Amino acid sequence: MTLPIPQPPTIPFIGNVTSIDREVPLYSFRLMAKTYGEIYQLNMLGRFVVIVSSYDLVNEVSDETRFQKRVTGGLLQVRNLVGDGLFTAQPEEENWGIAHRLLMPAFGTLAVKNMMEEMRDISNQLLLKWERFGPDAIIDPSDDFTRVALDAIAYCSMSYRLNSFYTDTQPEFAIRMGDFLGESGHRANRPQIVQAVANIRGKQVKYEEDIRMMRGLADQIVSSRKTHPIKKHDLLDIMLNSTDPKTGQSMSEESIAQNLLTFLIAGHETSSGMMTFMVYFLLKNPEKLRKLRAQIDEVLGDREVQYEDFAKLPYLIAVMRETLRLAATAPMRATTALEDCTIRGNRGEYALKKGQSVVINTWDLHRDPKIWGEDADEFRPERMLDGGFEGKPNNAWQPFGFGVRGCIGRAFAWQEVTLVMASILQKFDLSLVDPSYTLQIKQTLTVKPKGLYIRASPRKGGVHLQATPASALMAGRDEDSADAGVVRSQAHGEGVPLYVLYGSNTGTSEAFAQRIANEAGAYGFNASIGTLDSALGKVPKDGPVVIITASYEGEPADNAARFVDWLIHLQNNNELTGVRYAVFGCGNSDWTATFQKIPTLCDELFAKYGGKRLVERGSGDAGSGDFFQKFDEFEAGLWGVLEKEYSTSRSESIAPTLEVKTVDGGKERAKALRQDDALLGRVVENRVLTKEGPVKRHIEVELPEGVTAKAGDYVAILPQNPIRDVRRVLARFNMSNEAEVILSSVGPTSLPVGKPVSLSVILQGYVELSQPATTKDLGMLSQATSSDNTRAYIEELKKNYNEAVQAKRLSVFQIIENRPDIDLSIGTFLQMLPSMRVRQYSISSSPLWNPAHITVTVSVLEAPALSGSTSVPFLGVGSNYLAGLTAGDRVQMAVRPSAAAFHPPENPSTPVVMFCAGSGIAPMRGFIQERAAQKKSGREVGEMLLFFGCRSPKADYLYSDTDLAEWVREGVVDVRPAFSRASEESEGCRYVQHRIQKDAADIRAAYINGASFFTCGSANVAKGIKAALVDMIMKHEKVDAEEATMKFEKITKGRYATDIFD
Ligand SMILES: Cc1cc2nc3c(=O)[nH]c(=O)nc-3n(C[C@H](O)[C@H](O)[C@H](O)COP(=O)(O)OP(=O)(O)OC[C@H]3O[C@@H](n4cnc5c(N)ncnc54)[C@H](O)[C@@H]3O)c2cc1C
Ligand code: HEM
Ligand SMILES: Cc1cc2nc3c(=O)[nH]c(=O)nc-3n(C[C@H](O)[C@H](O)[C@H](O)COP(=O)(O)O)c2cc1C
Repeated sequence: MTLPIPQPPTIPFIGNVTSIDREVPLYSFRLMAKTYGEIYQLNMLGRFVVIVSSYDLVNEVSDETRFQKRVTGGLLQVRNLVGDGLFTAQPEEENWGIAHRLLMPAFGTLAVKNMMEEMRDISNQLLLKWERFGPDAIIDPSDDFTRVALDAIAYCSMSYRLNSFYTDTQPEFAIRMGDFLGESGHRANRPQIVQAVANIRGKQVKYEEDIRMMRGLADQIVSSRKTHPIKKHDLLDIMLNSTDPKTGQSMSEESIAQNLLTFLIAGHETSSGMMTFMVYFLLKNPEKLRKLRAQIDEVLGDREVQYEDFAKLPYLIAVMRETLRLAATAPMRATTALEDCTIRGNRGEYALKKGQSVVINTWDLHRDPKIWGEDADEFRPERMLDGGFEGKPNNAWQPFGFGVRGCIGRAFAWQEVTLVMASILQKFDLSLVDPSYTLQIKQTLTVKPKGLYIRASPRKGGVHLQATPASALMAGRDEDSADAGVVRSQAHGEGVPLYVLYGSNTGTSEAFAQRIANEAGAYGFNASIGTLDSALGKVPKDGPVVIITASYEGEPADNAARFVDWLIHLQNNNELTGVRYAVFGCGNSDWTATFQKIPTLCDELFAKYGGKRLVERGSGDAGSGDFFQKFDEFEAGLWGVLEKEYSTSRSESIAPTLEVKTVDGGKERAKALRQDDALLGRVVENRVLTKEGPVKRHIEVELPEGVTAKAGDYVAILPQNPIRDVRRVLARFNMSNEAEVILSSVGPTSLPVGKPVSLSVILQGYVELSQPATTKDLGMLSQATSSDNTRAYIEELKKNYNEAVQAKRLSVFQIIENRPDIDLSIGTFLQMLPSMRVRQYSISSSPLWNPAHITVTVSVLEAPALSGSTSVPFLGVGSNYLAGLTAGDRVQMAVRPSAAAFHPPENPSTPVVMFCAGSGIAPMRGFIQERAAQKKSGREVGEMLLFFGCRSPKADYLYSDTDLAEWVREGVVDVRPAFSRASEESEGCRYVQHRIQKDAADIRAAYINGASFFTCGSANVAKGIKAALVDMIMKHEKVDAEEATMKFEKITKGRYATDIFD
C-alpha cells in the first residue's frame, strides 16, 4: 500500500499558488516541509508538483534511469532569453548534446586552471576597490561579488571585459539580468488572466526590453569576435570553430549567443551568492574564521595565492563545502518520472505517475538529520574534513545538481571562489556593519543573503576603532540613515590618548563606554571609542584602554565575539605587553554559572598576555538595584588612578560637556525623524488578554519585509518613553513640547548632535528617564542647589543610598521634579541619563501559523511608584509603549535568534514539557501553535505538557478561552494550571512548583519518553521551578539536595532550556 502525498488546502482555479511567498518561495517550501514532512504536493494553476526534501526521497529521484531533468516553472520562462542553451534545454533537444560535448572539456579542471591569471585580474579589482574605500566604507558584498562573478565569466570564457568595477551602481547588464530572472520567476506563478494584467502594467514591455538588451550584447560579442578573431582558445573560440565529435555539427550563431548568456546567468548569481553566504557564516562564527585565516596565513604568508596552494588549504575547502550545504545558492531543481513508479521515504512508499514533476528542495536535503546529524543547522566545516565529506552517501550533497545535467561550471566556480576568498581573507579584516544581523534571503532563480553589509579593514595598518551602535535599531533611529553605524569614534583634540572599547547587545555597556569617553576631556584625556571587535589584533598601547563588556549565556556580545575569540586563542604570551587596561563588566547574577564570564575572561587574559591592570575589575549586576552605582564607583576610582598614572589633572571648570542650544522655542513643528523602513513592523492587532489584575496584552505585528522568525526567537523593540513623562520633564525645565534644539558635545555621544532636533523627540526616544540616581548624580544635584534644606535632603539620600534610592528606584528626575531649587541645565540633565535601551519580547507565535506575522504576549508594567514620591504610577517604558500601539502603527523592531536550545525540537514527535507563569507563556504558545499546525496537516506529533501559573481562571488564564482551549480540544496540549488565588480550581496547587510536585509521575514518564523541557518567565519563577524538579529527583531517588542537583544538571544536559525575562 502506498501512502497518500499530503497537500495544503487549495483555492479554486489557482490551487496552491497563494501558499508560496512571492518574494522568497524557498521560505514557503521549507515551512511546508516542516508542516507536512518529507514529501508534499502542490497544485500550481492545475499543474501538480511534488516536492521532496529528505535524503531517502532525493536519492530515489536522483536515479537517472528513472528520473530526468525537465525544464518547468521559472526556468521555462528563462528560455525566453536563452532558448535551448545548456541550462534550459529539454532532454530531447539536440542542441543540448552538441553544446554539452563541445563545452565539457572546455570547463574541465585543466582548462579552468589555465584561466587562473584572468580570474586574478578580476579578483584584484575587488581587492583594490576595498583598499581604496578604506575601513569605514559600508560594503554590499553581494554587489561586489556579483561584479567579480560576471566579469570573470565574461573575461575568461569570451575575453570580453564587462568592467563592472568601473561603475558605482551595478552595471546595466547585471540589473537587467536580475530583473529578468525575477520576472521570469513571477510569470511562472501567475495565472494567464493575471499575466494579462501584468502586461497592461508594462511588465511585459520591460521584460522584452531586458531580453533585447541582453541578447544585443551577446550578439555583439559574437559578431565582434567573428570580425576580429583573436588567438586565444577560449570558450567562445571553441563554440565558433569546433565541431561536435559525435554528429560533426557546429553550433549555430544563435545557439552560441544563447550559451554565452547561459554562462552569465548560471554562473554569476550562484558564485556571488556563495561568496556572500560564506562571508556571513564566517563572520557569525569567529572561531571558524580564525582557523581559516591561520591556515591561509601559514600557507601564503604575504605572497599571492597560486593554483598549487589550493590543495594545501583543506579548511578553506571544508568551509566552501559547508557553505554550500547550508546555503545551496541554486536551492531547487526539477526532475520528472520517466515511468509510473514508487519512491520510498522515511514513512513508507509513495506512488508517482509517469511525467510527474518532482522538485528537490536542496536546503532541507542538506539538513536531513539522518545524514548530517542533529546539529545539521550549525555551520561546522569540520564535518567535511578527514573523510567526513567523502564518507557521505551519494546524493547527500547536491549544490551542483547531479548526473548528466549537473553543473558544467563547477570547477570554474570552485577555483574562482577559492582564489577570491583566500585573497580577501589574507588582506582584510571583515566585520558586519550590524553585528546582530541574522540571515535574510533574497531569491530570484538563485538565493543570496539580503541586507548584509560589511566593512573591510586592511590587516596592515594602524588602530582604527569603530563605534557602531550595539543595536541596529539605535542606528535606524537617526535621521541620516547613511550615517547608520558610524562613528564619532576617533579622538580629536589634545591630551593623553584614551581608548574605550565596548561589547554590548542592548546598549548598557555602550552607554557606560560613552560616558567615560565623554568625561575624558575634563580629566585631560583625549578619548576614542569603539567596539571590542574593531580593536581585534590591534589593542592600542599608547594610552590606557578601558573595556566595558557584557556576557550572554556566557558568550560575548555580538560586537565583541571576534575579539574575544582572538583573545582566547592568542599564541604569543607577550602580545599585550605595553597595554595598560581596566575592565568593567555588565552582567546579571541570575546567570549563576556564567555571571561576568566575559569581563572576567578579558581581565584575566589581558594580564596573562602581558597587559598591566590599572584598577581592579568593576562588576555591575543588572539584576540588583546598584548597577549604575557600581559603575559610578568604578569610574571614580578609574579617573583617580589615571590622573596619577598619567600625571593629568581634572579641569576646574565644571562646564557641561554636552550643550543644548535652543533654535526654535516651539513655534515650528519639528519634523518627525525618518525611520529606516527595513526595521519597521506594522501592528495588526493589540488586545487585552486579562480581565483582572496586571494587564497582559496580545499584540500581532506584520514583520518588516523579508524578515523571518522561528518559534522561540525574540523580538527586540526600541521603545519610547511615555508622553506623560516627557511632558513632566519639559514642564520642569519650563520648555515647550515643540522646542527645537541643537546639541553639541565635546566627547562621543549617542545623542543626535549638530542638527536641529525636537527636544521631545530626544526625551522620548534617546534616554532612559527612570534609572535610579547614582551617588555621582546626587553629588551633581547637591552642587546645583542653593537650598540648604535640599542639600541636607540629598546628603540623607547619599547616606542611606541603598534603601532610599536604589530600593525605591528614585530617579534624578523624581528628585528634581520635587525640588525646584535645584538649578540644573537641560544639557547636564541629559548628560546624566543613560541612553535608551532596547527591550526584548519572546515571540509567541509560529511561522507555520503565519510566516509574515508574529505575536508577542506582554505584561504591562504599571504600578504605584516604589519611591512614593509622585502621585502618578510608574510606567515601564517598553511594555507601555507596546500597550499604546494600535493597528496600523509602525514599530522599530529586529528579530533576534534565541539560544539554539530554545526552539521546538526538530522532530515533531519528540514529547515536550513546558513550565511557565504569566507572560512566560509567550514562547510556549508559539511551540504549541507549531505542533497544532503540524498535527492538522497529518503529521504525528508528540505529547505536550504545559505547566502554567497565574492568578485565577477568571482573571488572567491567558488564551484559555481562545487558542489554548482549541489546542486542548484537538489533543495537541495537556494544560496543568496552578492558580495562586483559586488553587481549589487547580487541584490544590497554588504555584507551578506545587503542580510539578503533584504531577511528578507524568513529568517522569515524559522524561523517559525522551521529552525536551522548557522553562520561561522571571528569574524567581525559573529558580522555583528548578528547585521543584530537583526536589522531585531527591524524593524519587532518595538522595540529598546536592546529589539531586548534580543529577539534574547531568540528565537534563541538552534537554532543558530556560528563558529568563529579567
Ligand atoms: C529574553 C527576554 C524575553 C522577554 N520576553 C518577554 C515577554 O514575552 N513578555 C513580557 O511581558 N516581557 C518579556 N521580557 C521582559 C521585557 O523585556 C521587559 O523587561 C519588561 O517588559 C519590562 O520592561 P519595561 O520597559 O516595560 O519596564 P522598564 O521601564 O524597563 O522598567 C523596569 C524596571 O523598573 C523597575 N520597577 C518595577 N516596578 C516599579 C515600580 N513600581 N516603581 C519603580 N520602578 C519599578 C524594575 O525593577 C525594573 O528595573 C523579556 C525579557 C528578556 C530578557
Ligand atoms: C557556486 C556556484 C554554482 C552553483 C551552486 C551551481 C549550481 C548548478 C546546479 C544546481 C545546476 C543544475 C540545475 C538543474 O538541474 O536544473 C547547474 C547547472 C549548470 N551550471 Fe552551474 N552552478 C554554479 C556555477 C556555475 C558557473 C560558474 C557556470 C558557468 C560558468 C555554471 C554553468 C552551469 C550550466 C551551463 C548548467 C547547465 C548544465 C546542463 O544542464 O547541462 N554554473 N549549476
Ligand atoms: C539572554 C540573556 C543572557 C544573559 N547571559 C548572561 C550571562 O551569561 N552572564 C552574565 O553575567 N549576564 C548575562 N546576561 C545579562 C547581561 O549581560 C546584562 O543585562 C548586561 O547589562 C547587558 O549589557 P548590554 O546592554 O551592554 O548588552 C544575559 C542577559 C540576557 C538577556
